This record gives sequence, structure tokens and C-alpha cells, in this order.
Amino acid sequence: MESTPGIALKGYSYFHDQFVEKKTDILQTRLFLKKAIVMRGERAAEIFYDTSLFTRKDATPKRFQKTLLGEGGVQGLDEEEHAHRKHMFMQVMNEDSLDRLEQYFEEHLNHALLSWEKQEEITFYKEIEEVLFRASCDWVGVPVKEKEVQKHTEELSQMIDGSGGFGLRHHKGRKARKKAEKWIMKLVTEKRRKEKKSPGDSILSQFAFHRDLKGKLLKKRIVAVEILNLLRPIVAIARYITFAALALHEHPQYRERLRKDMEKLDLYFVQEVRRFYPFFPFVAAKVKEEFEWKNVVFPKGRRVLLDLYATQHHEDIWTNPNAFYAERFSTWDGSAFNFIPQGGGDYNQNHRCAGEWITINLTRIALDYLVSRMEYEVPEQDLKIDLSRIPAIPESRFKMQHIKRSLHGIQVK
Ligand code: HEM
Repeated sequence: MESTPGIALKGYSYFHDQFVEKKTDILQTRLFLKKAIVMRGERAAEIFYDTSLFTRKDATPKRFQKTLLGEGGVQGLDEEEHAHRKHMFMQVMNEDSLDRLEQYFEEHLNHALLSWEKQEEITFYKEIEEVLFRASCDWVGVPVKEKEVQKHTEELSQMIDGSGGFGLRHHKGRKARKKAEKWIMKLVTEKRRKEKKSPGDSILSQFAFHRDLKGKLLKKRIVAVEILNLLRPIVAIARYITFAALALHEHPQYRERLRKDMEKLDLYFVQEVRRFYPFFPFVAAKVKEEFEWKNVVFPKGRRVLLDLYATQHHEDIWTNPNAFYAERFSTWDGSAFNFIPQGGGDYNQNHRCAGEWITINLTRIALDYLVSRMEYEVPEQDLKIDLSRIPAIPESRFKMQHIKRSLHGIQVK
């Protein structure tokens, strides 16, 4: 049966409900009229990340490439080509580099907090997106004029939001990607001209002067796609930070405990936010050579989806999966295949998210602000998360009122 209308109507729940109802980890269906297989669970993830079984070439439908991912980026590469391009990303994920990003994030958060104190009400999600955008540009070395901050933040936000949408939301995402790629391509041209003889050490320069396996510079458009593969997902962390604020609001018992016991509990809390709340619904691959699993034949070329949301809510992996319970992570086995909100497997060899540690660290910092460094009121609003909307977000985007820096105090330069 064709699944596209069902996904449009039921979003994250569409396959999840079928998995639960049929007590299975594998479903055969059609996507965009073509036969497809959808899987969930730890063993399914292990199979999905076996590079001898699957290829990523042409696996992601165009509508996601035209909005979220871009065309020609690391996500669609295989084997040595993938490992070589992935290395370009993993090189900038070292400790010093991540420390710098965290510092930029805190600096911009401190400045934003001063401005929030002067306002009656803010929309937290929108504000955090802008803070993250500013930090991402400082980190990557992308110059941005103050008057253009809002415009570019909005472009990145629309690329994320438009990916799972239909109609106008999707159209906006496509338009935003075109504009953002044009913006970054111009910067790459400038970099290559100005730093021809001695490339600088910013991330933008490293990517602009990266050479492929044949020793050639990447096309400017591809560099733009890859730079946006850093800026865009950093802005996307605003969703997890908003979910963290929501979780604190809905489970206030954690607030006092986090204040006293931040060291241990905050990591578990952030992990539970990434497990519990819906974000990236599936990842896609195509079968390399025919094989069989659970009495289902996977023919060569068949598109296969790994359902991340359904794995995060799998009743065999997580006790009481629909409850928010941060402490469950104190006994989590650390498997690379059972907790996969940002993909699974190995960071270098597989397509697992290059920015998973950035996501965890920045959400932890934001949680510290929410718990200890600011006080705020949460007015009456519609905080419902509609599971039929991909990507999900609380309806009201989390409004806050009467914000004050807390007694713990922070210094703003
Ligand atoms: C906001 C939270 C984030 C979520 C939910 C997320 C989710 C994901 C997912 C599901 C994948 C695909 C895994 C696969 O195909 O198997 C992925 C890949 C990727 N992510 Fe993230 N991500 C996030 C943040 C970040 C950040 C902060 C960065 C970098 C600054 C980043 C950079 C990447 C890159 C470069 C890839 C491609 C990896 C590859 O193809 O080898 N992501 N992410």
C-alpha cells in the first residue's frame, strides 16, 4: 500500500503504530509509488549500517535534498568517497574546536538574555535559533552583517521546517536553500581569491580548500552544501533546546534535582530529550545486493527506511517508552544501534551524525541556563506537539515571560 498520504496525515506515528499493532520490526510498503521496506529496532539498525548491504547513492528522495540536505553532499556518498568527505567534517569536531563553539554559544546566549530581560514576552524557540545561528557563524568563520542575521536565520530554519512539509511550507524550504547556497558560494569565491596562496585556518577556509580523492577542489556549490551541513543543523538544535524547556515545564520535579545534581543528571536528561521527542523521523538507503532478513527478501535497488522515531519508542528496547524518564540512561548499555536519534553505527565509517556531540553539549549548556542561570514564567499557551507534523515542534514555540538572570549571576561583557 502507498504510504505517502499516510505519512502526510499521521507523520511520526504512521509506521510506529503499525509496528506496534502488528508486533513486527519490518513492514513492506510503497513510497512515492515505488516499493519500499521500513524497519525499526536494534538489529534492524545494525543491518542498515552494514555498508556491504546498503548504498546511500540516490537513496534520499529529491524533496529532502532540495530543502534539508542539498545535492552532492556527504549524505549521498559511499565507501572511500564518503570516508574522505566525512573526514573533512570529523576533523573540525576535535575538543578545542568544540570548546570554541561552546564559548561562542554562551557569549551569544548571555547577550540574548540581557535583551530578553527587557521584553515582556519572548518566543524561546525563535530566540534560540538566532543565538545558535550567531554561534555557528562565529565557529565556521562565516562573516554576517547584523542586519542580515534574522534573514539568514530564517533561511536555515525554513530549510529544516520545509523538509517534511507539503505545499507552501515545502516551497519556502526550497527557496530558502537556493538563497542560502548562493550566499555561501559567494563567500567561498572570495575565500579562494583572497587566500589562494595561504589558506586560513577557519572552517570555511578548510572546506573551501578541501581536495577530493583525485586532488581537486570541490565545486563551489558543493562547498556551500557542506558549509550549510554545519550551519543548518546547529540552528536545528533549537528544537531539542525547546523540547528540553518543555520537558522541564512538564516534569518540574527535575528542576530542583538538576540544580543539585547537574553533573550526572543533566546528560541523562538531554539523552532522554533526544529519545523521547520526535525530530528526524527516518533515514534512507538502497539495497546493494539482494539478501533476506526475517523472511523478507531485500531485492537489489529497493529503498529501505530505518525508522528512528519508532526505534526510540521500541517497547523491547525501552521500558515504558512513552514516559519521560531521564534516569533510564543511567543504565543504558551505550549501544551504537539502539539509541539512534541522530543515526547509528560508527562516526567515520557510517553516516552517523557528525554533530552529535555538538548537539548534546549545546543542549546541556542551554539546560544549565534554563535550570540555574535564568528565571522565567511560562504563560498559558498551546504546548501540544502534533505528531503528524514533521519536523515536530510545540504549537506555540514555547513562550516565556518576565525573564531575569538568576541569583547564580552571569557576567556579560
Ligand atoms: C539538531 C540535532 C541533530 C539531529 C536530530 C541530527 C540528525 C542527523 C541524522 C539522523 C543524520 C543521518 C544519519 C544517517 O544517515 O544514517 C545526520 C547526519 C549528519 N549530521 Fe546531524 N543531526 C543534528 C545535529 C547536527 C549538527 C549540530 C551537525 C554539525 C554541526 C550535524 C552534521 C551532520 C552531518 C555532516 C551529517 C552527515 C553524516 C554523513 O552522511 O556521514 N548534525 N544528522
